[in-house]
Amino acid sequence: MDKELEAFANSKARDVAMERTREYIKLMSYYKCALMEVETKLNVLNEEFSLLNDRNPINSIKSRIKSPLSIKEKLDRRGDPITLQSIEENIADVAGLRVCCSFTEDVYMVADSLLKQDDITLIMKKDYIKEPKQNGYRSLHLIIAVPIYLSNEKRMMKVEIQLRTIAMDFWASIEHQLRYKKDRAFTENMASELLSCAKISANLDERMSGLKQMMEK
Ligand code: GTP
Ligand code: MG
Repeated sequence: MDKELEAFANSKARDVAMERTREYIKLMSYYKCALMEVETKLNVLNEEFSLLNDRNPINSIKSRIKSPLSIKEKLDRRGDPITLQSIEENIADVAGLRVCCSFTEDVYMVADSLLKQDDITLIMKKDYIKEPKQNGYRSLHLIIAVPIYLSNEKRMMKVEIQLRTIAMDFWASIEHQLRYKKDRAFTENMASELLSCAKISANLDERMSGLKQMMEK
């Protein structure tokens, strides 16, 4: 190819790449806005509840946007195309919130209050508290759609919310660390010890709820 033509082709490719990067950054910023919307809703619920009941049902809220590498790996793993449209259609956890509550009752109360709001649409609910995963994992997972209002449009964005108690979070964090430790195999023994710890943590939640009920009497 003649030098000038090659330079032209290169600059065209660069323009296309730049434009795609800009569009990607824009989409991620929409997800960030959706996280802000939902986080505010949760903070409002926490504020109102603490005014009425003198305690906070929500202990902590963490949010994250899925990294570009994790997004690509997930699309590849499922054989989905690597496009912005495909990200929006096929990945429900680009925007993720983890809400830690004091008691199991708070998990359901916060989830129900959020889902009652008329601008929130429930896409999927997985209740791993009522039916824990085989390894013992417990949490309530919601995939919702929430509107964000831009200067000239209203856009529905998906957000994944994991709600759990502090005990469930403690277990899940340790389990995640052990499972993904690169220098050591995850043995059967460790799995069964973890399952036993999950049962202890579920029992701890029940006893704490019992204490709360005693206090409320
Ligand atoms: P992805 O895991 O996101 O691909 O989707 P999925 O369809 O398997 O969804 P699921 O609701 O089961 O899990 C989604 C998220 O919940 C995970 O990405 C983790 O953050 C968390 N999670 C699910 N199972 C476990 C578990 O066994 N241990 C821990 N520590 N976290 C889990
Ligand atoms: Mg995930």
